[in-house]
Amino acid sequence: MAMRLLCVLLLGVLGLSVGAQAQSVARGQALFESRCVACHSLDANRVGPALRGVVGRTAGKAQDYFYSEAMAAATQVWDAPQLKAWLTNPETVVPGQDMNYRLDLAQDRDDVVAYLASVSPPVSSATSHPSPNPRK
Ligand code: HEC
Repeated sequence: MAMRLLCVLLLGVLGLSVGAQAQSVARGQALFESRCVACHSLDANRVGPALRGVVGRTAGKAQDYFYSEAMAAATQVWDAPQLKAWLTNPETVVPGQDMNYRLDLAQDRDDVVAYLASVSPPVSSATSHPSPNPRK
């Protein structure tokens, strides 16, 4: 019994960081589906550009999406810190942009960005493993 308890505790500690990450992604997906899909989808351009693969992509470069002039001229590559700044206040990241939407809670921003990263190919292999449906 004590042994069993110990095992459960150990597994719990080992699983914690992985579990927290998975939880963040799951929560981020739910947030994405409630807060972002009014304008975005993963694979199609709508009011806003398609967002699958946005982590590691240069800003303003989704194929066939018609960006604001400011976004089209942007040159930064999206990473987690920049995406969180964007969701805090897009205007401070790309002045003149057209997305007038924010997430007020840091936890929400963390989770949505974790979700976006989970549906983006890892940056290092973005070009070496072209897949129509990476790591769903
Ligand atoms: C009211 C509509 C609207 C909502 C809601 C919205 N967006 Fe956007 N988003 C846009 C538009 C429009 C653009 C393009 C801005 C431009 O061209 O200046 C954009 C651009 C972006 C970009 C930059 C993409 C690129 O290719 O550089 C990211 C990232 C993004 N949105 C994430 C999100 C996330 C995450 C949410 C939900 C929390 C969200 N957006 C909610 C309209 C919206």
